[in-house]
Amino acid sequence: MLNWDEFHEDENTVAEAPAQPAAPKPAPAAAEPSQVAEASGQYAVAEADRLERARKSLEELDVAAGLEELEMGAARIEVDDKQMINARADLNQLVPFKYEWAWQKYLDGSANHWMPQEVNMNADIALWKSQEGLTADERRIVERSLGYFSTADSLVANNLVLALYRLITNPECRQYLLRQAFEEAIHTHAYQYCVESLSMDEGAVFNMYREVPSVAAKSAWSLKHTQSLSRPDFNTGTEETDRELLRNLVAFYCVTEGIFFYCGFSQILSMGRRNKMTGVAEQFQYILRDESMHLNFGVDMINQIKIENPNLWTPEFQDEVTQMILEGTELEIAYARDTMPRGVLGMNAAIMEEYLHFICNRRLAQIGLKEQFPGAENPFPWMSEIIDLRKEKNFFETRVTEYQVGGALSWD
Ligand SMILES: [Fe+2]
Ligand SMILES: [Fe+2]
Repeated sequence: MLNWDEFHEDENTVAEAPAQPAAPKPAPAAAEPSQVAEASGQYAVAEADRLERARKSLEELDVAAGLEELEMGAARIEVDDKQMINARADLNQLVPFKYEWAWQKYLDGSANHWMPQEVNMNADIALWKSQEGLTADERRIVERSLGYFSTADSLVANNLVLALYRLITNPECRQYLLRQAFEEAIHTHAYQYCVESLSMDEGAVFNMYREVPSVAAKSAWSLKHTQSLSRPDFNTGTEETDRELLRNLVAFYCVTEGIFFYCGFSQILSMGRRNKMTGVAEQFQYILRDESMHLNFGVDMINQIKIENPNLWTPEFQDEVTQMILEGTELEIAYARDTMPRGVLGMNAAIMEEYLHFICNRRLAQIGLKEQFPGAENPFPWMSEIIDLRKEKNFFETRVTEYQVGGALSWD
């Protein structure tokens, strides 16, 4: 198979290796002499007037038409022109800001930048390789988690870039979406880095979303909700298509990132609390911090769209959205049962079910819907502490967990 890398390698090999006679290549089919002369003659002419052609092309540039496209000469953008969906305002201008919450999340996300290679994986590698380091149930949890997440974050990233981005018609929200898209790339990188560090079977891990039923069901549910939006001819602008966009936001932010991640996250973080697989757990800890911001951003977007388009949020639609969140909760409970056939790491499927009922209530309440499991309590209060890392310094001893990059420096 052709691969550009191989051409580079060939070039280097030729440059560094002692001169060797090149293997004779088969002679190309001979062309008629007149054909060759004609072709090279044309090429010489084209080379000579390249700059001329560039200048001529610029002379022909229809600036007026371009300006018309950008609505140049129209009044300057006012904050009131901006809206979440179906906006007619110029989307190339970031300011003036309308949604401060979106810009603030972009700043917060950028201030918490991290990369997977910064995490030391040595203890994990030793533990994973040792025969009696982990029980079979604990190994299953690590494998299933990496199996689900290694592709789930790609599903989220593809939904952002290929379906959602063009339909959110607000520049400060798009700025956060671009940040989020890069964070999803870092998350997929982190899972790949764990799989590679532990020398796991990459084919088995990356195909789990198609091959293991409890993982596949979650991925299929997410994929179902990206299909219509990712069609090139999909557009918002009618009540039905605007609601379809809201379904997508609920499916990805409230369910995929807000429910589907929570069993696996709490299992791996519980492992880290027991001083096992601390590198993997540290990666998951940073990812969870990012994900909780993605979730909050999605909730803000949904609520803002509801405020601007109250006609969309009918009782029937509220019922449908509630059902979607219940479907997600059921799928996550099924995943919990599959990954914990017995008690493990101080948890079991029944306790996880209660946790997921608590999470389900939270997701419903965040977008103004009625809780479906009244009285469900959080059996893992330490999860909330991890999500808000500012309260939890040196959770793992490998590094100080609260750090910020240069961009976060204050100029006061
Ligand atoms: Fe992610
Ligand atoms: Fe995310």
